[in-house]
Amino acid sequence: PLVKVAALCGSVRRGSYNRGLIRSAIEMSKGPINGLEIEDVDITGLPMLNTDMEGEGSFPPVVEAFRHKIREADSVLFASPEYNYSVSAPLKNAIDWASRPPNVWADKAAAIVSASGGSGGARSQYHLRQIGVFLDLHFINKPELFINSHHPPGKFDKNGDLIDAQTRENLKKVLLSLQTFTLRLQGR
Ligand code: FNR
Repeated sequence: PLVKVAALCGSVRRGSYNRGLIRSAIEMSKGPINGLEIEDVDITGLPMLNTDMEGEGSFPPVVEAFRHKIREADSVLFASPEYNYSVSAPLKNAIDWASRPPNVWADKAAAIVSASGGSGGARSQYHLRQIGVFLDLHFINKPELFINSHHPPGKFDKNGDLIDAQTRENLKKVLLSLQTFTLRLQGR
């Protein structure tokens, strides 16, 4: 059975390491991992949340398109840096848009990975899990993947591509866990 994954990058920076994680995940889904279809769902074009932009259950076209991609996915892969000990603002904005009624996050499986400074984004991951409580997102518990993007150096190349073999292996384990959990959650 096919598991469709919407991958969201919380950084809009060119050369983002977190987007590099998503590129690696997509590459793995086309090679060593069977049964996963991962799409990088871009959040950079979303306007800043403003409920004045909503009509009767309708949204601006870019928001509608984003919500549709989430609705169509079986599960969600978040790859985001930590900003000031929390989820990045672009990611939170995207989460908020898709949470407007009807909340399209509900009942989806999810996984979080992060490339960030010191703690590898651990604090932001726990904030995201807390947000997921209200959204009815079901996060895999393990494995956890916190990547320090700078120490030791050399995990990513200058384009932000993940080149460290051990970290790639760890990412693969997250994807396999998400796949198994999604099928279990959906009773497939
Ligand atoms: C950061 N960074 C950061 N890192 C961290 O580990 N904890 C933090 O609280 C913060 N706070 C923070 C705030 C702001 C406004 C910025 C711009 C950066 C560092 C950041 O997570 C790091 O540079 C990541 O590698 C960036 O991810 P991308 O853009 O490469 O995906």
